Amino acid sequence: MSVVAIDGPAGTGKSTVARRLADRVGAHYLDTGAMYRAATLAVQRADVAPDSDDVARVVAAADIRLAPGEDGTTVVTLDGDDVSAEIRTDTVTADVSAVSANADVRERLVDLQRDHADSALLVVEGRDIGTVVFPTAALKVFLTATPEARAERRHRQNIAAGRESVLDEVLDSVNRRDHLDSTRAASPLRAADDAVLVDTSDMTLEQVLDRLTELVSERIGEH
Ligand code: DC
Repeated sequence: MSVVAIDGPAGTGKSTVARRLADRVGAHYLDTGAMYRAATLAVQRADVAPDSDDVARVVAAADIRLAPGEDGTTVVTLDGDDVSAEIRTDTVTADVSAVSANADVRERLVDLQRDHADSALLVVEGRDIGTVVFPTAALKVFLTATPEARAERRHRQNIAAGRESVLDEVLDSVNRRDHLDSTRAASPLRAADDAVLVDTSDMTLEQVLDRLTELVSERIGEH
């Protein structure tokens, strides 16, 4: 089994890149952010504050599953309910950093993530994949981009999806989430020492994909 770990902050194009790369190289794809989002939704449905001690108990009891959907998408279920769309709402996004800062939550979700490690080639996307979840991954990529470039992308996605969006507010939210994700005590967002850094600020999606496909061939070989 070979793992390609793709880490980095939101807005670097990470999700699209990871999904398309998995498709190109014939790998399975695992979106770990979706697990933290489903855990956050479980906490909200239980009416528990995202930073309370009860969070670990709620997440331990939640049945969170990820399965491949159509066109490389992921179907996420929470206690049997398809929550794939609901976990992407702003309501969930607002609390996800607090829930994912809980060390017990992280321990449980990392176990679930490792349970997926049964395919020949697995592309795993997240924040701590190269540092914590799969530290022996055959290839570790850390995607970066300036906060402005990342906010601009998120803003355009919002507009395209028909959501109201103000660029300055998106930039604030990007900066706030970065700060929370990189300063938390449990598995803060950081590049593994042996990760390849790819700054996507001035690269198109195709350029990033070409670069990563090249790295997979070099490190892991053809599939
Ligand atoms: O990639 P995303 O925006 O769907 O991730 C949602 C949140 O989950 C993000 O704010 C940080 C957290 N996360 C994490 O802490 N560790 C991961 N491996 C993946 C996501």
